[in-house]
Amino acid sequence: MTSPQHVNGEYHLILGIETSCDETAAAVVARDALGHGRILSNVVRSQFDAHKIYGGVVPEIAARAHTECLDDIVRAALAEAGVTLSDLDAVAAASGPGLIGGLIVGAITGKALALAAGKSFLAINHLEAHALTVGLTDGIAPPYLMLLVSGGHTQLLWVEGVGRYHRLATTIDDALGEAFDKTAKLLDLPMPGGPAVERAAQAGDGKRFKLPRPMLGREDPHFSFAGLKTAVRHAAQGAAPLSSQDISDLCASFQAAVCDSVADRVAKAMRIVAERFPGGASRPFVVAGGVAANKALNAALTGVAERHGFRLYAPPIALCTDNAAMIAWAGAERLQIGLIDGLGAPVKPRWPLDPEAAPAQGAGVKA
Ligand code: KG4
Ligand code: ZN
Repeated sequence: MTSPQHVNGEYHLILGIETSCDETAAAVVARDALGHGRILSNVVRSQFDAHKIYGGVVPEIAARAHTECLDDIVRAALAEAGVTLSDLDAVAAASGPGLIGGLIVGAITGKALALAAGKSFLAINHLEAHALTVGLTDGIAPPYLMLLVSGGHTQLLWVEGVGRYHRLATTIDDALGEAFDKTAKLLDLPMPGGPAVERAAQAGDGKRFKLPRPMLGREDPHFSFAGLKTAVRHAAQGAAPLSSQDISDLCASFQAAVCDSVADRVAKAMRIVAERFPGGASRPFVVAGGVAANKALNAALTGVAERHGFRLYAPPIALCTDNAAMIAWAGAERLQIGLIDGLGAPVKPRWPLDPEAAPAQGAGVKA
C-alpha cells in the first residue's frame, strides 16, 4: 500500500470502521486537497464461517464476533498503513443502517479512539459510503445515477452530492442478493448463494423455464423479487427430482429473468433522471453492492447504459462489497465540508438516505 507521504500536498487521513453486518473491517484512507483518494490499508474479516450452519447472519453472533476481533483489525489497518492514531484527522464508523449490536460495537470503538486521540468522529451512513465509493476508485464526483444491489438493499439513487440523495426506487419485498441467496437455498446450492447460482447458470439454458419478469413495464422504477423466487420454487417442484442440468437451467432462467427485470427498471430510472435533473442524461451510471459481481447482470447493465447514452462504472468488487475503505472515504468527504458528528451521535438500525422519499406502493419495512 502507498505510504501517506506519497499523497500529493495537503491531505486528510481517516480511519474507517465497518461492523454493520457480518464483516468486521477497518481501513485507512487519505484524501488530498484536490479530492483524490488513496487507500493506505483495507482489512476485512468475514464472519461467514460463524453463521454458515444457521443459513443466515445471526445478529447476536455477529455482534460478539465484532467485539472479539475489532481491536486487532483496527491495529492491523493502522500498522499496514504505517500510521498511528495521532497521525489521523478523524475516525469514521458505520453507524447505520444495519444490525444494532454490530453498529454499537463499531460506533463505540470509533468514538473511544477519537476521544482518546483527540480527533473528530464521523457517524457514517453505510449506504452513503457505498454511494460515494466511485469517487475513491474512479475519481467520479456527483451528480450520478446509482444502482445499489446487495444482500440487504436494492435501490436506485440520484446522487446529487455528499449528503444529498434522491431515492428513485427500492424493492417492495426482497433485496436482489437475498433473492439469489434464497434461490440457491431452495436448490440446495452452497452459500453465499449469488456466486453459486452464477456458477450453476454457466452450464444452463436460460430459456428453458418460463419465469416472470417482475415489474416489467411498470411506470415507477421499483423492484420486486419475492414472486420470482416463488416461481423458481414451483418450477423446481414441477421438474423434481432435479438433475444437475435441471438446476443449471433453473439458475440460468432465474438469472435471465433478473437481468430483464433490472434492466427494465434501470431504463425507467434513466428516463426519469433525464427528465427531472438538469444534465442528468449525460452523467455516469454507477453500480455497487455484492450482486454487482454478477457477470450476466453487468452485461445487461452495460447494454441498458449504452442504449440510453450513460456510461457504466463499477468499482472493483472488493470495494463494491462491504469494506471499511468506503466508510473512511465517506468520512473524508464529509470532513471536507465540515459535516462532523459529536460523540453523542446515535446508531440508527434504520437510516434511509432519502427520508423524504415516498414509500413504494406495496412495500414492506425494507423500503
Ligand atoms: O454487498 P454485499 O457483499 O453485502 C451486503 O449485503 O451488504 O452483498 C452480498 C450479496 C449476497 O446476497 C450474495 O449472494 C450476492 O451479494 N452476490 C452475488 C454475487 N456475488 C455476491 N449475487 C449474484 N451473483 C454474484 N456473482
Ligand atoms: Zn453494504
